Amino acid sequence: MTGRRPLVELHVHIEGTLEPEMTFELAARNGVELPWASVDELRRLMEFDDLPSFLSLYYECCAALLTAGDFSDLMHAYLRRAAAAGVVHAEIFFDPQTHTSRGVPIDTVIDGLLDGIERASSLGITAGLILCFLRDRPVEEALATLRSAAPRAQQLLGVGLDSAEVGYPPALFAEVFAEARGLGLRAVAHAGEEGPPAYVVEALDLLGAERIDHGYRALEDPALVARLREDRVPLTVCPFSNVRLKGVESLAAHPLKRMLDEDLLVSVNSDDPAYFGGYIDDNLEAVTHELSLGEDEVERLVLGAIESSFLPGERKAELRDRAIAAGRRA
Ligand code: ADE
Ligand code: ZN
Repeated sequence: MTGRRPLVELHVHIEGTLEPEMTFELAARNGVELPWASVDELRRLMEFDDLPSFLSLYYECCAALLTAGDFSDLMHAYLRRAAAAGVVHAEIFFDPQTHTSRGVPIDTVIDGLLDGIERASSLGITAGLILCFLRDRPVEEALATLRSAAPRAQQLLGVGLDSAEVGYPPALFAEVFAEARGLGLRAVAHAGEEGPPAYVVEALDLLGAERIDHGYRALEDPALVARLREDRVPLTVCPFSNVRLKGVESLAAHPLKRMLDEDLLVSVNSDDPAYFGGYIDDNLEAVTHELSLGEDEVERLVLGAIESSFLPGERKAELRDRAIAAGRRA
């Protein structure tokens, strides 16, 4: 049903699309020794207590990624899977510090990811890159990362902020984001995933974030909810992620329903699909069922993603029309 609607994905980490099979393939190709004996052993480790426990496995798997060809193959595989789900446009995070800290040049990462996007263009899917700073690494490192990417700012869509949230408030990165915005980059930030509603406020006020990634803990602050509604601040929600990282008890208890009821601008996304058990279509289908969403609510999620994207106005209007027409046929 939703597969026929044009989907837009706004919250996916390319490193989080690295399926265990590909981790092993790339490691073999690169002569990298992995600490696990098999794909099955790696899969068995995908039980998490919280965000930090997930991140340590996620960063460990990145050891397999070394060449531009690896990043291209990773991107191409994700876009192929996304296109099969009906995704027509994706705005995709990457974590350069995870790779530069292992000696992989940032240009290798960006070249590879852009090549993967180019290879997928025949599938009818477009994509843009959002460079994320790791908030649990020093601010100076984020600034150096931005400056190393600055000559290629035109090839990037924006900057984001990710990794372990609690104890790393957005305020730390105000200067980095100001410089990024000065380069013409759009700004988004993870906030209100494990961190408090105050981090959402900081991301808006101090980073100039145009979208909040996750953001569901904003529900704890009624004044913030009113602000998000009135300003139509997009919140990119990732249901499987929130359950697998134990921020939310179950899909049936997911606050997405309350966010819709509060008239917030929300979309459904996959975050790290290789780790959390499904892609955007799986997330959408599961919340539709578990939260008993009506057709109108599913349509709001699909249209919300289009509205929340950084696409030009005409493309948004065209996708909106297509989504509404597909909904009528469903
Ligand atoms: N990096 C990859 N996935 C993430 C998430 N859900 N939150 C913060 N950083 C991440
Ligand atoms: Zn994320």
